[in-house]
Amino acid sequence: MTSGALRRFGEWAIVTGASSGIGREVALRLASARVNVVLVARNEQSLTRLAADIESRGSRAKVVPLDLAAPGAAEKLEQATLDLDTGILINSAGFGSGGAFLESDPAAELAMVDVNCRAVLDLTSRFARRFAARKRGAIVLLSSIVAFQGVARSANYAATKAYVQSLGEALAEEMKGTGVLVLRAIPGPAESGFARRAGMKFGSADTAVAVADDIAAALAKNRTSVIAGRLGKVLYYSLMTAPRFLRVSIMKRIMASMTRPSLS
Ligand SMILES: NC(=O)c1ccc[n+]([C@@H]2O[C@H](COP(=O)([O-])OP(=O)(O)OC[C@H]3O[C@@H](n4cnc5c(N)ncnc54)[C@H](OP(=O)(O)O)[C@@H]3O)[C@@H](O)[C@H]2O)c1
Repeated sequence: MTSGALRRFGEWAIVTGASSGIGREVALRLASARVNVVLVARNEQSLTRLAADIESRGSRAKVVPLDLAAPGAAEKLEQATLDLDTGILINSAGFGSGGAFLESDPAAELAMVDVNCRAVLDLTSRFARRFAARKRGAIVLLSSIVAFQGVARSANYAATKAYVQSLGEALAEEMKGTGVLVLRAIPGPAESGFARRAGMKFGSADTAVAVADDIAAALAKNRTSVIAGRLGKVLYYSLMTAPRFLRVSIMKRIMASMTRPSLS
């Protein structure tokens, strides 16, 4: 991939969720393509270490520690980047949970909606306007293969990703002709901090590096959708041959094997 293919959007990119997993790897790919990166997440130490790595590759990095579940976070990020020629927003921050809905922590589930949906909408809305005004930019939304049907034992997480998938599909169409590309990235299970935080156990998974490579390549080629990772592709295309009611039943069985049994 040539540096120009990613630098044409602007000198700087913002990556949320840059402290770990897919976001971290996408940030490194952008830096290798000579794009400077604004790194966003709560874990400031991890962001600072990543910033040093990025600077050692010859690109610049700016660390913006933020809790995206907190009110006003998107506005703070917008303000922190006003003086930068920003052309890419990668919305990678997110988390999931696995297990029985009746045993879930309602506060944590609401925070998940705040990070996975509310912050994504707020940031996308602010930066879509900013990018459209300069007629150049790209926004990446992290969907998932769980977005295409209800998923028992990960009900709220799958619903947040259905929201992201639908938002991305619509915006990709609406933004045509504005110079703003909207890309939905759809990974399957990927090695990162995700499974541990969600209380899930993956049998097999793509690497975060493979997922990030596919995202960067899709961005460079102006694509609006990418099924990221090899396992992601296999699972997506085999699931999609089944009608929705059957996918619900298949995902219920898969998620039962990946999460702790109920207490009762
Ligand atoms: N891994 C998978 O199997 C998989 C599959 C499909 C889709 N996805 C999606 O891919 C995206 C990245 O996940 P990942 O696999 O890279 O997981 P990860 O390694 O756990 O990374 C998640 C990132 O989100 C950040 N984050 C979480 N809560 C936050 C908050 N309140 N404020 C700011 N940042 C927050 C974390 O940073 P801090 O903890 O430092 O705040 C971390 O950098 C997520 O949207 C996820 O839903 C993942």
